[in-house]
Amino acid sequence: CYFLNLFGNAPPLHQVPPLQYFVAYPHQYKFIVDEPIRCLKESPFLVLMVPVAPHNREARDIIRNTWGKETTVLGQEVSHYFLLGLSKEEDGLEDLQEQESRTHHDILQSDFLDSYNNLTIKTMVMFEWLSTHCPNTTYAMKIDSDMFLNVQNLIDMLLKAPKRLYMTGMMARGAPVLRDHTSKWFLPYSAFPESTYPPYVLGMGYVFSLDLPKKILEASAHVKAVYIEDVYVGLCMKHAGLTPTDPPHGGLFRTTVPSFTNSCYWTSVITTILQNSNQLLNVWGIYQTQAHSGC
Ligand SMILES: *[C@@H]1O[C@H](CO)[C@@H](O)[C@H](O)[C@H]1NC(C)=O
Ligand SMILES: *[C@@H]1O[C@H](CO)[C@@H](O)[C@H](O)[C@H]1NC(C)=O
Repeated sequence: CYFLNLFGNAPPLHQVPPLQYFVAYPHQYKFIVDEPIRCLKESPFLVLMVPVAPHNREARDIIRNTWGKETTVLGQEVSHYFLLGLSKEEDGLEDLQEQESRTHHDILQSDFLDSYNNLTIKTMVMFEWLSTHCPNTTYAMKIDSDMFLNVQNLIDMLLKAPKRLYMTGMMARGAPVLRDHTSKWFLPYSAFPESTYPPYVLGMGYVFSLDLPKKILEASAHVKAVYIEDVYVGLCMKHAGLTPTDPPHGGLFRTTVPSFTNSCYWTSVITTILQNSNQLLNVWGIYQTQAHSGC
């Protein structure tokens, strides 16, 4: 098994980091719902990769009707794909997803169990898919389904950005490893002895050039996969000798909606974290109004 390989021989028990903080990656997962040639055929400039739970059809439909609808922006082609794992129960979801996939051609479903603690696996199979399916695409963005995304500002930034070895988003620098057992992102010393993480971009929305997936995957064979997915991408980047880049200026990638937004807020940012995808419907309307009012 991978764990034993990493340490050569099985270490004495007291040195073994608790396994629940790691996930089963690398591993031979396979796509059971796929779009094998769409990205190759269309060769978009940018692909948006959206992790979403299998049952969350509502979030997918809202994205298809908001930022997922913007397919030609500043003369560049953009497409989106939803990333799903397997749902827990045999609940007839498989049939629904096949129908949804036939209608929209934007579903990628891999055969690992879809759960919060398996998000690292989802991100890594995303990199696998991108590195083999989009040979003529310049950038990809991983973006959560509860995010506002201004595709126009994103493309505008990318047209001026490096085309290689590039990753940007909301940067975490010198982030402390959380040692409080009750924290959602707890990691014990035995699993990660250093007190801070290397620089990484927060997982809810980051952009990268499409030469990176292969480099991150190569590094992942040497870096044991922790369950905190954005941290793990940062660890693989570090192993590959790479670091993420700051966005060209502050305020493009925002954590929360400010309590007082100015009248051109939504036309000035790239991303903002929302409460849920219903809020996205509402905010999208405000964004359209701002965009048409000379912002
Ligand atoms: C993660 O996925 C693997 C493969 O499907 C599964 O064996 C494991 O139980 C899942 N872990 C969690 C925490 O859901
Ligand atoms: C790759 O994309 C560019 C522009 O997006 C296009 O001009 C070129 O023909 C494409 N190449 C292939 C092999 O599809």
